[in-house]
Amino acid sequence: MIYLDSAATALHRPPAVGEAMGRALYAMGNAGRGVHGPALAAARLIYGVREKAAALFGVSDPGRVAFTANATQALNIAVEGLIRPGDHVITTAREHNSLLRPLYRREAAGAELTILPADGLGRVDFDALEDALRPNTRAVAVGHASNVTGDAVDLRRIADFTRTHGLLLIVDAAQTAGELPIDMEDLGIDVLCFTGHKGLMGPQGTGGLCVREGLDIPPLLVGGSGFRSFDRTHPAELPEALEAGTLNGHGLAGLGAALDYILERGVEDIRRTEDALARRFLAGVRAIPGVTLCGGWDAAVRAPIVTLNVGELDAGEVGRRLWDGAEICVRAGVHCAPLMHRALGTAERGAVRFSFSCFNTEAEIDRAVRAVAEIAGEG
Ligand code: ALA
Repeated sequence: MIYLDSAATALHRPPAVGEAMGRALYAMGNAGRGVHGPALAAARLIYGVREKAAALFGVSDPGRVAFTANATQALNIAVEGLIRPGDHVITTAREHNSLLRPLYRREAAGAELTILPADGLGRVDFDALEDALRPNTRAVAVGHASNVTGDAVDLRRIADFTRTHGLLLIVDAAQTAGELPIDMEDLGIDVLCFTGHKGLMGPQGTGGLCVREGLDIPPLLVGGSGFRSFDRTHPAELPEALEAGTLNGHGLAGLGAALDYILERGVEDIRRTEDALARRFLAGVRAIPGVTLCGGWDAAVRAPIVTLNVGELDAGEVGRRLWDGAEICVRAGVHCAPLMHRALGTAERGAVRFSFSCFNTEAEIDRAVRAVAEIAGEG
């Protein structure tokens, strides 16, 4: 089997991830809920994972990293907590439903929404931010890289805009955390939302958000916090303010081991490796008659994704032939980014996404190129 669906979820991961989870299952108490050894060990371990995430994302205070089940939950917390009725938010047509749907829900509750359009190659003209600005604009909410084309946006440029106009910048790093360098404080990001199970190579059910110093986000969920139990309201202090209930400590143990691997190897090395694999694949499929690529391929920085269509074939059919004929795993269809698919002209038949891990090999890439060529030849 050749796994080229890492943008959906990691399958390749350092063995230490599973080992850490296995140990945690039999050693971890409930963090913040006791003074016995296993509870204290859990608290220490989880704090250590905050420190590692803070180191990776350029956050000075690990207490500003709150854990969630995934990026969707983190984005819901950010959008529901920060966007009030009457506020105006700017986003783009590139976004995943994990950001679009929370924004639509705030729109239905009285917020105003501007969606910057994407062109036929999935690119957004961020000069349009100036024109979109209104007196009540409160935030810009964008994905770092598109989960369909892999193109990344220039976060520094967008952050300059939000800083100049006193706006909040909410970033969805679902497709880039662990794969592209992100220094939240250096860039001036207010809220960075991430998932643990893609580029970070941790387990599903982990993720979180990093919240800029001085910014308060009201909780989406309230409940057990392990302290101030007689208060009727949930504590406002981070990270517990955004972590009601028992955390996924076993999953976080795995995420911690994955972060150790990434921090030791370095994001830049991972990026270089994955980018080389993606470009090798791109060069191969580009030469195949009948293959149409999705995206501009001129973004300076990219997530390791190549998305395409073959002849007139439905994307699902290509995905099925890749699996049945060559045991190649891809994501085929519409990738939860409806406006992006409309912009790319792939709303009807979808698209076939190949996404790469730093553990894929060149031989796997070459086999995948041959498989695409065989399907294109079959017609
Ligand atoms: N959001 C994930 C993807 O793009 C699941 O495949």
